[in-house]
Amino acid sequence: MNCIYSQTPKLYCNPMNLRYENLAEHLLNAIAQNLYRPGERLPSVRQLSQQHQVSTATAVSALRLLEDQGHLEARQRSGYYVRPRPRCSLQEPAISAPSREPSLVTGQELVLRLVKAANDPRIVQLGAAVPAASFLPTQKMAQLLANVARRYSQRIANYEFPPGVPELRRQIARRMSEQGCPVDPNDILITNGCQEAMTLALKAVTRPGDIVAVESPTFYGLLQIIESLSLRAIEIPTHPRDGIALDALQLACEQWQIKGCIVVPNYSNPLGYCMSDTRKRALVELATRYRIALIEDDIYGELGFGVQRPSIAKSWDSEGRVLYCSSFSKSLCPGLRVGWLVAGPYLEQTEYLKYVGNLATPTHAQLTVVEMLAKGGYERHLRQARNQYRQSVEKMTAAIGAYFPTGIRVTQPEGGFVIWVELPETVDATTLAQRALMQGISIAPGQMFSATQKYRNFIRLNCAVDWDERVNQALVKLGQMVSEQ
Ligand SMILES: Cc1ncc(COP(=O)(O)O)c(C=O)c1O
Repeated sequence: MNCIYSQTPKLYCNPMNLRYENLAEHLLNAIAQNLYRPGERLPSVRQLSQQHQVSTATAVSALRLLEDQGHLEARQRSGYYVRPRPRCSLQEPAISAPSREPSLVTGQELVLRLVKAANDPRIVQLGAAVPAASFLPTQKMAQLLANVARRYSQRIANYEFPPGVPELRRQIARRMSEQGCPVDPNDILITNGCQEAMTLALKAVTRPGDIVAVESPTFYGLLQIIESLSLRAIEIPTHPRDGIALDALQLACEQWQIKGCIVVPNYSNPLGYCMSDTRKRALVELATRYRIALIEDDIYGELGFGVQRPSIAKSWDSEGRVLYCSSFSKSLCPGLRVGWLVAGPYLEQTEYLKYVGNLATPTHAQLTVVEMLAKGGYERHLRQARNQYRQSVEKMTAAIGAYFPTGIRVTQPEGGFVIWVELPETVDATTLAQRALMQGISIAPGQMFSATQKYRNFIRLNCAVDWDERVNQALVKLGQMVSEQ
């Protein structure tokens, strides 16, 4: 089975799509349907422009986009060819089957040890979902930070009280509108990363003891917020391709008084799926019908391997049920700590909670992001980053296929940079993580991704590492450790 084309890329019917993006998507679909096989040549620029009634410039842009994304390779004076892809014979894990009862979140103590390892250069960092610096535009950011410090020396010395820097809110509103989710800049609250956005959203819609539905497995940071607010989590079965099971969520809504539901519909962490438009819309409808707040975490939305950015679930929200959270941590720079929240009717409440919590998000960081969005080549960086992330996921999958015992299962993410690995049932992932750490390798054991410490024989691996012999050896060792357990 081919990793990338084993699924048909989605057609996002976004009216804002450019013509060359539509053509690129059409060609990608044709490749997925095997109309053009790896190694075969695509029609020439002239043929494409005639067949699709577009200018030659549009045809060239479409082909270049697919080349940038690693789907095609250009051969001099010959044309564009479908790039051969690494074969992936590994199966995906099955849909999860978590407990059907709400519970308090337990067993998250390991997390701090994991994130500390992320800052230790002696450790091969396959644990925390933090990209290596080579995946980030560090030089550009350093330049912009210096420019902003010079230009706004007085302004950066001051608090920028909530809702945050107006120019940044305008830039974000513009991007979201272009992505099919129109938002007024005045509805945006700047936060210290997505984690704070999620915390404020949950604080606004729940009281201690309330039940919150989560995907299973889910990002452990969300479980920690639930734990810190004395909430209970109910884990909903989640499919590694389709996302949260809507029928199971509906059943849970009928059985329990659920106040909120947190989802990561675009390239979830750790499963990496992207929910279809139909399912996103159905999810928003379900939340509306059962009057629950839907908290949408879209932190990986910009990091897809397809041609177009996936849709935002909030774009189907006509009643203010969806609280949208995101940040620039995965797409630009986690250390800046700049994120945002669109909380709809909870705007004032979350603004006040933000103010009480930490007064403001650093002005310097906010203004630096403004510069990057306005004229710093953010789009160019994203194009490059998506390609880098895709390649790193392919390399990790290939290494696992080569070094791990047979029979293991691995997700095939459609974006982002983590993979979820199901190991033989004899393996205890926490013991494995401890043994690996002693050998200088950090991994994230599956138990952290469940409120009830399920996923005993799963691990999540961060693929956004600098691929050198050290990483290769670490994976060889990890494979041996898995075989020995
Ligand atoms: C799904 C998800 N949400 C939120 C966060 C936290 O984001 P931030 O660093 O912007 O607070 C992460 C970080 O790993 C994440 O994976």
